[in-house]
Amino acid sequence: MAKPLTLPRIRAMKREGRPIVMLTAYDYPSARLAEEAGVDILLVGDSLGNVVLGYDTTIPVTLEDMIHHTRAVVRGAPGTFIVADMPFATYRLGPEGTLRNAARLMQEGGAHAVKMEGGADLCEEIVRLTAAGIPVLGHLGLTPQSVHQIGGYRVQGKTREEAEKLIADAKALEQAGVFAIVLELVTEEVAREVTRSVEVPTIGIGSGRGCDGQVLVFHDMLGYGSGIREKRFVKTYADIGSAIREAIGRYAEDVRSRAFPEERHAFRQEEAPRGVADGRETAAPYGSAPADRVAEGAATAAQDGGARG
Ligand code: KIV
Repeated sequence: MAKPLTLPRIRAMKREGRPIVMLTAYDYPSARLAEEAGVDILLVGDSLGNVVLGYDTTIPVTLEDMIHHTRAVVRGAPGTFIVADMPFATYRLGPEGTLRNAARLMQEGGAHAVKMEGGADLCEEIVRLTAAGIPVLGHLGLTPQSVHQIGGYRVQGKTREEAEKLIADAKALEQAGVFAIVLELVTEEVAREVTRSVEVPTIGIGSGRGCDGQVLVFHDMLGYGSGIREKRFVKTYADIGSAIREAIGRYAEDVRSRAFPEERHAFRQEEAPRGVADGRETAAPYGSAPADRVAEGAATAAQDGGARG
């Protein structure tokens, strides 16, 4: 199994001009698929609130939500560097309060690093976290946790004043010790300027071609879920939402017409339990259980016929 990237390797990727591939993940199967596809960094983003939990904003997401989902991602992608978002109002609490919450994401969640939205105002907390061994990913530009303050999801860096503030914030974050900076919805020109003005990598989302890496939200790039609005900065690589809807529709049709289950899906009284005979059955509740747990489950499967759920 591959090993997670280290901070020196992530920094070296910028120097070597090798783009960093980051993707969000929120659960075991998404993390597992992303790791198999060779993603460099997985972000358990608080976009969890929007794309998984169905909230309008990221503000209702709690530290407990983040820990719960981070643990699932860590189980799915043990060979990938995993960053967990610090949700709304779990930082800017002073260095000690912030440290306590960040430490929970690492100790209980299993994350390798945390991400916080904000600029120079966060420096004192970043210094405290990095001194305690907690790597921090910065996040500038559009900062969705401040949506009510910003007054909407709008492109950042449009004026010279905004651009200069972004550059100053990026330098301050670098000075405080972040290992990289996410730039969200920043104009391409300014994102390029920010990228040139710091030695740590920038990872863009909706910030054009000049960043050192890119991040997209899992559900956006895969067309997964209903109500996903087309976003100009997203490239949709698949339409799994339609594939899922169509498959569920066929399942419903089959149940209603009694076309499913068929004879081969049923267990008969006189049959030998297959799990004992060929070891293929599993007691794991989901099809995505790792192979070592499949073997573990075989004994129970033999007793209950491999019943799910
Ligand atoms: O929460 C999230 O998914 C993020 C990315 C959009 C960078 O912060």
